[in-house]
Amino acid sequence: MSRYVAGDLTDAELILDRCNDLAGISSHPDYLERVHLSPQHREANDLVARWMTEAGLTTWQDAAGNQCGRLEGREPGLPALLLGSHIDTVPDAGRYDGMLGVLLAIQVVERIRLSGVELPFALEVVAFSDEEGTRFGNALLGSRALSGTWDDDWWKLTDKDGITLAEAFQDFGLDPARVHGAFRRPGSLIGYLETHIEQGPILEDADRRLAVVTSIAGARRFAVTITGKAGHAGGTPFDRRKDALVGASELVIEVERLSKQYGVIGTVGRLQAFPGGINVIPGRVEFSLDLRGEFDDDRDECLRLFTKAAEEMCARRGLGFDATEIYRADAVMCDPALKDAIAAGIAATGDTEPLAFWSRAGHDGMAVVNIAPIAMLFLRCRGGISHHPDEAVKKADVAAALDAFEAAVLSVATSR
Ligand code: GLV
Ligand code: MN
Ligand code: MN
Repeated sequence: MSRYVAGDLTDAELILDRCNDLAGISSHPDYLERVHLSPQHREANDLVARWMTEAGLTTWQDAAGNQCGRLEGREPGLPALLLGSHIDTVPDAGRYDGMLGVLLAIQVVERIRLSGVELPFALEVVAFSDEEGTRFGNALLGSRALSGTWDDDWWKLTDKDGITLAEAFQDFGLDPARVHGAFRRPGSLIGYLETHIEQGPILEDADRRLAVVTSIAGARRFAVTITGKAGHAGGTPFDRRKDALVGASELVIEVERLSKQYGVIGTVGRLQAFPGGINVIPGRVEFSLDLRGEFDDDRDECLRLFTKAAEEMCARRGLGFDATEIYRADAVMCDPALKDAIAAGIAATGDTEPLAFWSRAGHDGMAVVNIAPIAMLFLRCRGGISHHPDEAVKKADVAAALDAFEAAVLSVATSR
């Protein structure tokens, strides 16, 4: 592969500066957390809207809180190629997951506008409002509204303070009854392209900057409850205990064992024991389960075996088991023609045989695919680290991603 020298480090610097600006918009003084429909979401939308305007886009916030912008093509009103990513974060987040893709998209549009090229489609940029699901547990809420896959049952979801999604919409100045206004008619979009940090080590290990994404892993998430009986930590003999945490611990290990066996990825990211006394046997444990894989069948088989193991463990220990599904997104394939455009974009940076692999992380394209073909460009991140403040990218890689993303958009234009 040729050693790519960044064409325009100034643009990359601007993008990285803006990532820093967005990282400063956090609900916590000590770390980055910016969740759906929060005051920080409002602030971030306003800032992104300003950058979109400066880049020459006409802006609006849609009925689901997604920040959008549009640049007309060679004539007004043409269907649009949608570019973007998300601006919400996980707790104690890095500053590139999502945000980098939005800022790259804005910069691509500005470059194309300044070049004077007239495209046979409009360009739109979207900063999705909720890809991570940090606040309400159910992810992709912004892109699901846009893609018309909204489920009115979600209005009852609550955050950790008991605020419902419907109330949060109102607090943000949105009308729940109008959420369907965010829906984009399928014919209004010709496709969706997203650039994202890889969030894994494949590119770095291969000493490559960019990759074509082939598909996005399908994920299912559950709220699991193990019920036992609380009691005195000193006085209760082991043979009389119904310790929910010891039972849950067996299951956490089982998640890892089954995942490795079936080639899927299982994670328990949150676990809480109740009542939570140092000298009290845990009577109830709640934990999250995130199961994902390249193939939905493998993921679902792993889930079946996990459920069987949980029921056996609970019968043996006299515990109760419940698993409520809170999120499901099946695996999606990236579109062949748009994948070719991404590959052509990477080729324009000198890598004529780009790596291509599936995304272990979920992305808004999983929802957008319901109304338009999707594809993604991956960019190397340091150590493959993500969902952590140590997320880092190289400026030269950002410059390469920008060139590749712009070339991919132009390639879509020439192939139409
Ligand atoms: C989103 O980042 C996910 O894959 O969980
Ligand atoms: Mn993420
Ligand atoms: Mn992301």
